[in-house]
Amino acid sequence: MGLERPGAVVAGGPWADPHRPIYHFTPDRDRYRLNDPNGLIQWKGRYHLFYQYNPHGPYIDNTHWGHAVSDDLAHWEHLPIALAPTPNGPDSGGCYSGCAVDNDGVPTVIYTGIDPERPCLATGDNDLLTWRKHPNNPVIDGPPDGMKTVGFRDHTIWREGGVWYQVIGAGIAGVGGDALLYSSENLLDWDYLGSLMAEPLEDRGTMWECPDFFPLGDRHMLLVSRLPHLMGGDIWRTRVRWHSGDFADNKFAPDRSEVLDAGGNFYAPQTMLDDAGRRLMWGWITEGRSRNAQNIAGWTGVISLPRVLDLDGAGRLTQAPAGGTESLRFNHRQVDGMDLPAEDFAIAGLRGDSLEISAKFAMEDAVTFGLRIRCSPDGEEQTTIEIDPERQTLTVDRTTSSHDPEALLTRETGSLEPIAGDQIELRVFLDRSVIEVFANGSAATSRIYPMRADSLGVSLFADGPGVRLKEFDAWEMESIW
Ligand code: FRU
Repeated sequence: MGLERPGAVVAGGPWADPHRPIYHFTPDRDRYRLNDPNGLIQWKGRYHLFYQYNPHGPYIDNTHWGHAVSDDLAHWEHLPIALAPTPNGPDSGGCYSGCAVDNDGVPTVIYTGIDPERPCLATGDNDLLTWRKHPNNPVIDGPPDGMKTVGFRDHTIWREGGVWYQVIGAGIAGVGGDALLYSSENLLDWDYLGSLMAEPLEDRGTMWECPDFFPLGDRHMLLVSRLPHLMGGDIWRTRVRWHSGDFADNKFAPDRSEVLDAGGNFYAPQTMLDDAGRRLMWGWITEGRSRNAQNIAGWTGVISLPRVLDLDGAGRLTQAPAGGTESLRFNHRQVDGMDLPAEDFAIAGLRGDSLEISAKFAMEDAVTFGLRIRCSPDGEEQTTIEIDPERQTLTVDRTTSSHDPEALLTRETGSLEPIAGDQIELRVFLDRSVIEVFANGSAATSRIYPMRADSLGVSLFADGPGVRLKEFDAWEMESIW
């Protein structure tokens, strides 16, 4: 089933699983758990990705920081594990999520050591290959005095006017999620400045994981992976939210907030500013199959492609693929412009489980339209990516994506902004079980697990007349390994 592509590793190794992505980052192991991206930094021109990692199996335990580096944002080189728990140390229970900063030439990471959850610091050598944990760890003793927390972890750090600021994710017992602001002169001694939030948000959930806080255009953005309930629930039910607003006098006052990704499988994102001044974001692509299926597969977790974040005129966060993966394209196919018939239109000769598709449409009428991917010839298995201009939604419908009873079969919908000029480009990155969709600044990330070896077809559809296909390009994608 399409395993023998240029550059692909075949037969029996980690790539034998037909659901394992070939151009998204995964660790070089048969058995592993990966979750959050951590410590994102461009160092000496190279993009470094650290990630939550259990190198032993697809479950959360004994969490390490894995490490990889890329020059082109497409190919990754695996590097030695950066952080591992130190027996009897403040991170003996695991090295949880955190971020990286350049402290006047000294690469420095702050992460959460558990148990209990406490901020810890480590400094790297000049190539970020070996890390020294600071003897003063933990650098903060615990939550602010008198605050009872159900969670106190995950870090975002920046420097302003010579002062370091840090936001830590928290869940305040009986109250809800929060983002706690600290400042420091030296990254080691921290003062608590209070909640980052000018006003408590409505619907705070119980715990805010992986806060990320940064300026974008003339605003500030806060990303929060908000747990509606404590650990133990299905992660795919939780949604990351972005908040945009003003930041002054150490308080953030958001006036707009939305779900970050419509697809149901994008969590714990982290951003970084690259040397070109772009705000890049990676996220953890979660699973859409049962724990039992994950245990059998032996691996779990994928890192998303990098996305460039921007702000539109209305203060909305927009996402677009950061590029780099163009070098992986082969077998380019095009379809001429045409009015879409009011029935499925299979694209002859385009088949694959690892594709990039770019389709531009002009909408003359408010008709639902889109693409179907991973279609079996008889339509038994297929996944629909749908734009509804009237309801202004982007949907990934995976209700018929697989006949595997272990696979999640849901319809995931998110909002789309009004489409300027009635033109829209749909960009789809299909990588076996991973789908990343971009449309008009919105994104949807989902997992699908088709069972049939012939679920490889692609078709276009429109629910009525009034949609014109203007351009259609598709490529097969090579493995990055
Ligand atoms: C989010 C998270 C973080 C934590 C890490 C543990 O997915 O739960 O809050 O630091 O994963 O791996």
